[in-house]
Amino acid sequence: MDLPFETSEYYDRQEMLFSQLPSSSIVIIPTNERKTRSNDVGYPFRPNSYMLYLCGWKEDEGFFMAHNRNGTLESKLFVPPRDTSKEIWEGIRIGVEGAESWPVDTTSSVENFESEITQMIGQFENVYAILGISEELDKICNDIEGLSDPRTFLDPMRRVKSKVEIKHMQEAATIASNAHKLAMENSTPGMGEWEIQSYVEGHFMRSKSTWSFPSIVGGGSNATILHYKANDCTIISGDLVLVDAGCEINGYASDITRTWPINGRFTEAQKEIYELVLKAEKAGIDACRVGTPWSAMHRVVSEVIAQGLIDLGILECGLDEALGDEVKLDGPFRDFFMHGTGHFLGLDVHDVGGGRQGDPGNPDSLEPGMVLTIEPGLYFADWRGDIEIPAKYSGIGIRIEDDILVTEDGPVVLSSSCPKEIDEIESIVGSGV
Ligand code: GLY
Ligand code: MN
Repeated sequence: MDLPFETSEYYDRQEMLFSQLPSSSIVIIPTNERKTRSNDVGYPFRPNSYMLYLCGWKEDEGFFMAHNRNGTLESKLFVPPRDTSKEIWEGIRIGVEGAESWPVDTTSSVENFESEITQMIGQFENVYAILGISEELDKICNDIEGLSDPRTFLDPMRRVKSKVEIKHMQEAATIASNAHKLAMENSTPGMGEWEIQSYVEGHFMRSKSTWSFPSIVGGGSNATILHYKANDCTIISGDLVLVDAGCEINGYASDITRTWPINGRFTEAQKEIYELVLKAEKAGIDACRVGTPWSAMHRVVSEVIAQGLIDLGILECGLDEALGDEVKLDGPFRDFFMHGTGHFLGLDVHDVGGGRQGDPGNPDSLEPGMVLTIEPGLYFADWRGDIEIPAKYSGIGIRIEDDILVTEDGPVVLSSSCPKEIDEIESIVGSGV
């Protein structure tokens, strides 16, 4: 069996979910659907995160179902049946019998899903299903009145990581840290963004991992595009390169951003902005403490950024005016730092149970076992016509992002082995060329 956790951890999660539901409840969760890339070629399949969380099922078809009746919890996994004609092409399946060693009570074929579920649903007073993923499940649930979303209960559970989940996340963060380091070592002026990407993703692959989101490699002013995707430009001497990339281990993501000069030397202007972003990032990390309100990290980071922009003469106003509305923090500093300070991290790179600061449904405060990113940035986009960009900083884009575990003893930086001090970066960039 190929499960990253003891089966007891999955059973505990199923029990914890049902401990929050009334008796006579049924929960149905589909895995993701396959998506076509071209003709008969599919995109690489990624299982649904809730499926991974509740029973670890990774094949590209399947439904998890569980219900409680008279105080007894029973779970079932519907899986693709063995089928030699398909297995010749796609690989050997676990099958209905093989799935019996998964953390569920019984198994059945996906071919029986519709008839079994239609018949089961009527037996329970409360139906919980994740819709919008499987056309088959959506059709079955179409007429059910009062259907609820089990994510309301699962998301707060997923937000707090167990010891074993943290072990996987530490591994993902270490691999991504080493991938960034390797790319720094092999950086040289004139190389393509795609070549940097190949060092990063090559390291993921050699580590038996995959990317957790398409790698962002932006040289020069491409770094001012937050989710830059093209990765097809050459990086010239004097330019910075921003690399935002992370990998997945057993479904658990890392997400690290570093920015370095392609020729190994920051210019004075680049240094000024880098030092400010680094100062803000360190202040944000220090705020990741048990009991800290979820929105506090954004305030702490924003205050450092806004004050820094004033000190550099980029903003000509006082701190309160630079920050803007007391709650929204929508002042002029947002022209240069326009995204959130971080997000939860876990089975999804932008993990559940809070999302970015300022979103509805955020937790009140940080708890031990939560993992989040802190990722301030400053962007002086020379291609924007709507704001005035100081000439000295024109085209500079810098973000620094680490993965932080909240503990009773303070923040633990899972990505701490990834260099971020100016002297470390200057000594490592190009050292492997
Ligand atoms: N790593 C990309 C992001 O957090 O938006
Ligand atoms: Mn991120």
